[in-house]
Amino acid sequence: MALRIAVLISGTGSNLGALAQAIDEKTCDARIVAVLSDRASAQGLAFAAQRGVPTAVVAMRDYPDRAAWDLALADKVSEFAPELVVLAGFMRVLGAPLLERFPRRVINVHPALLPLFPGTTGPEQAIAARMRVSGCTVHVVDSGVDTGPIIAQGVVRVLPGDTADTLHERIRGAEHQLYPRVVDAIARGQVTLDPEVRVHGAIDDAVALLSPVFPAFPMSPPGAGASS
Ligand code: GAR
Repeated sequence: MALRIAVLISGTGSNLGALAQAIDEKTCDARIVAVLSDRASAQGLAFAAQRGVPTAVVAMRDYPDRAAWDLALADKVSEFAPELVVLAGFMRVLGAPLLERFPRRVINVHPALLPLFPGTTGPEQAIAARMRVSGCTVHVVDSGVDTGPIIAQGVVRVLPGDTADTLHERIRGAEHQLYPRVVDAIARGQVTLDPEVRVHGAIDDAVALLSPVFPAFPMSPPGAGASS
């Protein structure tokens, strides 16, 4: 039985697209039961609507305060009865109501190798730190900012001349491979999350998910590229 997932987005929704494609190709055993956003302008909403997936907008400005928005978001997500809540470029920190409603059932993808570079500027921070590699992290969401247990990570190279934008696009490529595989692993019970919010059981399998990402990190032939 396909895992019922609700996907939360704020923008483009390319990770949503990657999840939908993997589901179509039957490499991800999930069903997108709803796409929700805090922004009516999020491009991914139109993509979802075209596929006949229910959508909803829960915008902060429509509520008197942060607490009311947190509650409204939790209520709206609950309406779709997902088994897993998948953050895919959702650019708000989740409040207690949603996390309490879906304990250990909310995951996020972040464009950096956590615990390095949390927040909204992962690629910028990696460039500023002159990293030679960066990547993406899929983790369980807890009440902190990008602090929850790590499920899997994908690595990409930082190339000479990269900007935050070019690096972010390369990282997105890794996210598009990794995120559907993690959702599939959760759907199949290969990744389990225990009551202490620790990822365990098939963690080795989760790490093995990285292997398809490594071709994105090719070795340069001798003499190619900038010297360090
Ligand atoms: C993704 O790279 C995701 O990791 C990032 O936003 C992008 C959304 O892209 N999320 C964060 O930075 C959360 N802190 P998308 O809308 O094309 O999927």
